[in-house]
Amino acid sequence: MKPRYQILVLNGPNLNLLGQRESAIYGTTTLADIEVSCREKGKLLGVNLAFFQSNHEGALVDRIQQARGEVDLIIINPAAYTHTSVAIRDALLAVGLPVIEVHISNIHKRESFRQHSYIADIAVGQVVGLGPQGYLLALDGGVTYLQREG
Ligand code: DQA
Repeated sequence: MKPRYQILVLNGPNLNLLGQRESAIYGTTTLADIEVSCREKGKLLGVNLAFFQSNHEGALVDRIQQARGEVDLIIINPAAYTHTSVAIRDALLAVGLPVIEVHISNIHKRESFRQHSYIADIAVGQVVGLGPQGYLLALDGGVTYLQREG
């Protein structure tokens, strides 16, 4: 039987405000909309998805630690913690799960402080600048990665 992969989709601070927040940069799609479209895609791909958003670094670290043994791959938009959090990087390294980093905006053409990511060099790959579709592309890429590596 085809394996049913478990994928955890993590979102960091202020992404709960997607749809209302700086819509010129992040658009009008809400995080709930993104979850719905990921779940539709997940059904097509035959994967189980779990979602978690927090504005708190420690809560994200706790959720990453919990993923050990439960999850095959993590998709994460660490939001502002991308550029600051050694703790999230260390948690991802500690659980040793493959990671795909997603950003709605293209962080590489924004302010210089956004151009460094503490996650990029430990990720399988990065999807940036493609809006909410980035999460769906990460799901596709994640499943392909798991099929290839597993
Ligand atoms: C973001 C980019 C980050 O620089 C920013 O702090 C965010 C969102 C994105 O999805 O484009 O909150 O991760």
